[in-house]
Amino acid sequence: MKLLVLSAILLQDFANALSVLTESDVSKFAAVSFADHRLLASRGSDEPRCKIAPEDASWPTREEWAKLNATVDGALLKPDPSPSVCYPSHPNYNNASCAFLTSGAARQTRFWLDDPLSVLSPWTQGNTCLPVSSLNATTQQGRTCTQGGFPAYVVNATEVKHIQAAVNFARNKNIRLIIKNTGHDFLGRSNGYGSLSVWTHHLKALDYSPRSTIGSYTGPVVKVGSGVETWEANNAMIKHNFTMLVPKLPTETVGLAGGWFLGGGHSNLASKYGLGADHVLQIEFVTADGKFLTASKDKNQDYFFALRGGGGSTFAIVTSVYFRAFPGLTTLGTATFTITTGPAAPSTSQTATANTSLSKFWAGVGLYLAFAKNIVNAGGFGHGDVTFLGNDSFSFTPQFLMPGMSAAEVLSFISPLLDDIQKQGINFTTAPVPTVAPYAEPGKGINTNPGAIIFSSRLIPRSNWDNDKLLSETIAAIRRVSEAGFNVRTRAYAPSLKVAGDYAAKAINPAMREMVLHTTVFSVVSDVSLLSKKDLLTELQALDRQVEKLRKVTPGSGAYFNEAGRLEPNWQQSFFGKENYKQLLKIKKKVDPSGLFWAPMTVGSEGWSVETADGLPTGDGRLCRVGGREKKDSE
Ligand SMILES: Cc1cc2nc3c(=O)[nH]c(=O)nc-3n(C[C@H](O)[C@H](O)[C@H](O)COP(=O)(O)OP(=O)(O)OC[C@H]3O[C@@H](n4cnc5c(N)ncnc54)[C@H](O)[C@@H]3O)c2cc1C
Ligand SMILES: *[C@@H]1O[C@H](CO)[C@@H](O)[C@H](O)[C@H]1NC(C)=O
Ligand SMILES: *[C@@H]1O[C@H](CO)[C@@H](O)[C@H](O)[C@H]1NC(C)=O
Ligand SMILES: *[C@@H]1O[C@H](CO)[C@@H](O)[C@H](O)[C@H]1NC(C)=O
Ligand SMILES: *[C@@H]1O[C@H](CO)[C@@H](O)[C@H](O)[C@H]1NC(C)=O
Ligand SMILES: *[C@@H]1O[C@H](CO)[C@@H](O)[C@H](O)[C@H]1NC(C)=O
Ligand SMILES: *[C@@H]1O[C@H](CO)[C@@H](O)[C@H](O)[C@H]1NC(C)=O
Ligand SMILES: *[C@@H]1O[C@H](CO)[C@@H](O)[C@H](O)[C@H]1NC(C)=O
Ligand SMILES: *[C@@H]1O[C@H](CO)[C@@H](O)[C@H](O)[C@H]1NC(C)=O
Repeated sequence: MKLLVLSAILLQDFANALSVLTESDVSKFAAVSFADHRLLASRGSDEPRCKIAPEDASWPTREEWAKLNATVDGALLKPDPSPSVCYPSHPNYNNASCAFLTSGAARQTRFWLDDPLSVLSPWTQGNTCLPVSSLNATTQQGRTCTQGGFPAYVVNATEVKHIQAAVNFARNKNIRLIIKNTGHDFLGRSNGYGSLSVWTHHLKALDYSPRSTIGSYTGPVVKVGSGVETWEANNAMIKHNFTMLVPKLPTETVGLAGGWFLGGGHSNLASKYGLGADHVLQIEFVTADGKFLTASKDKNQDYFFALRGGGGSTFAIVTSVYFRAFPGLTTLGTATFTITTGPAAPSTSQTATANTSLSKFWAGVGLYLAFAKNIVNAGGFGHGDVTFLGNDSFSFTPQFLMPGMSAAEVLSFISPLLDDIQKQGINFTTAPVPTVAPYAEPGKGINTNPGAIIFSSRLIPRSNWDNDKLLSETIAAIRRVSEAGFNVRTRAYAPSLKVAGDYAAKAINPAMREMVLHTTVFSVVSDVSLLSKKDLLTELQALDRQVEKLRKVTPGSGAYFNEAGRLEPNWQQSFFGKENYKQLLKIKKKVDPSGLFWAPMTVGSEGWSVETADGLPTGDGRLCRVGGREKKDSE
């Protein structure tokens, strides 16, 4: 591609990330040799059943790790879990450092986000080293600190070469490989016991060109290193007056050129412009055999297909992505109101609130849900969260985010809904007051909720709005889930093929192309890390049972790969659609025949499973072939 005009927005000099692994590196250390396909093919059924682990005789020696470290310019880390400072029996014990972690002070900084091991859903790691004070008997309860599902080694990659060396070393040594970018994944796809982790967090380049040409496209392009987070892209948009698709505020720390676009990637502009994956023009990546390649419409088409929606941690390690962009900054016309019911309804000083009876409350929710189709048809994004408060008490706070609309336009857009709600006898304290907010707000990248929450989800198709009976059954199902004691978050957006346009990514779940509502069922347990293993499993199962109520009214639909439940049944169809899955699996077998890239519930992952001691679906166990031959650790 030619960057016709290159405006220099450089968080880091990108050229530097282009240093690749050479034959001279390989000649110094044979363990980082590129894949020999003949060798891989001939291994066949002689493949060991499991990836090796640190306790095995075949685990690399210290000298070998030191050589790998030299090959990656000293970027190899062997980190202890940061919360080890909270455990008196651990050599790292430090009461003051622990207080920083447990008081919440660390969360006001970049501490967890810059940590090479930490993930936002700690339960997926096995909860083997939680940041709980040894002085707090309530939380510590005899807990210990071990590595668990955290990797054994981490390559803190800043150059392509570092990733190639890690890939080759892990493949050649039969070591489990994981990829962590921000660690936001909800299902434990960015951790794994006994693994070598490729940490893409510091691939921070971001380069905007108001006009470049890639294939048949000419226009604004942003090249984004895979470690770039949403807040960094927001700051760049503001500074240089352009708009690109990014995950939604208030989340600032999702990695937009990592897991987000690889799994699809929705944003506040999804109903207007499609998904993050629909905006990709070109991708640079390291393959399972260690090569550094570029894919686009005209080049390495299998990869180009699979990497735009086929999921993270499956086909390659992405180093950077070229996204389409738009000149100028976009705004969102917004409005919100609140309806509550029951004795536990909180009093609120917010404008436009109504406290009403249970039946009127659900009538109001139903009217909003029916209206959701209008929101997406107008290119907007709707939030509609029902919070369970106990004792027949609920609150509901929809929020409308309408790209490009003025405050007056928002008011006229929502007034038919407000009228219908008022006709039900639900009287708001005041009328909603719409405002216009910037789409990109400046950020510092510290506004991240710890992800000790669990949920499961379902996409509800447009056809449910075409049939009054089905629509009322859908609304009734949502009510039943909520009344069973769960929080239900609904998000209205519709990244249809039509809005995705000419660049529409073909591997996207067809259920996302058809959807109007993304419904998520949350556990009301505020910190699932503190649940016993048994209770955690019970809670995961309970979520799945609730979502079953939504599946019943959405046969053939699915769930979003990046925001799904760990026990999602038939996930191949649900996350990808049957036809896409077949094609993706074919590509997976072709580009990664040895199964180097593995994470739970990804394309081709069925052949392997993590053998955990407690049977929970975490990363804390050996990765072994399903139904393979007997384990032989020391080979
Ligand atoms: C607080 C929060 C808010 C969110 N908001 C949104 C939202 O608005 N819209 C939305 O669509 N999703 C959202 N998500 C879901 C988010 O898209 C996924 O969690 C996504 O996978 C995160 O990608 P990551 O690279 O930041 O995280 P990671 O956990 O580091 O990676 C996620 C997955 O992608 C793989 N991966 C990461 N980098 C690479 C790479 N360079 N090459 C290959 N594989 C890679 C990892 O191995 C892992 O499997 C949100 C998640 C959280 C926790
Ligand atoms: C890798 O090398 C760097 C620089 O020499 C060193 O600081 C680091 O501790 C080494 N890593 C490991 C795991 O030994
Ligand atoms: C540990 O830190 C806490 C809070 O910082 C303090 O109150 C306590 O006295 C310290 N205890 C020890 C044993 O150092
Ligand atoms: C102990 O931890 C619990 C749970 O996080 C918390 O509610 C409580 O305040 C803590 N107690 C002390 C003394 O810090
Ligand atoms: C990872 O590398 C970056 C860039 O060199 C550096 O700033 C950072 O401190 C490193 N992180 C760790 C945990 O070593
Ligand atoms: C930002 O871009 C828009 C659209 O191209 C343009 O109209 C506007 O003048 C630009 N603003 C600034 C401050 O450059
Ligand atoms: C809402 O109404 C219920 C009665 O239906 C009442 O018990 C509750 O106190 C009210 N809450 C507020 C905040 O007004
Ligand atoms: C529900 O009501 C009971 C009895 O009035 C009360 O003790 C309890 O705190 C209430 N629960 C909630 C969540 O309001
Ligand atoms: C709501 O307003 C209407 C019309 O102003 C009135 O008739 C009705 O009694 C009000 N309902 C409530 C619950 O206050």
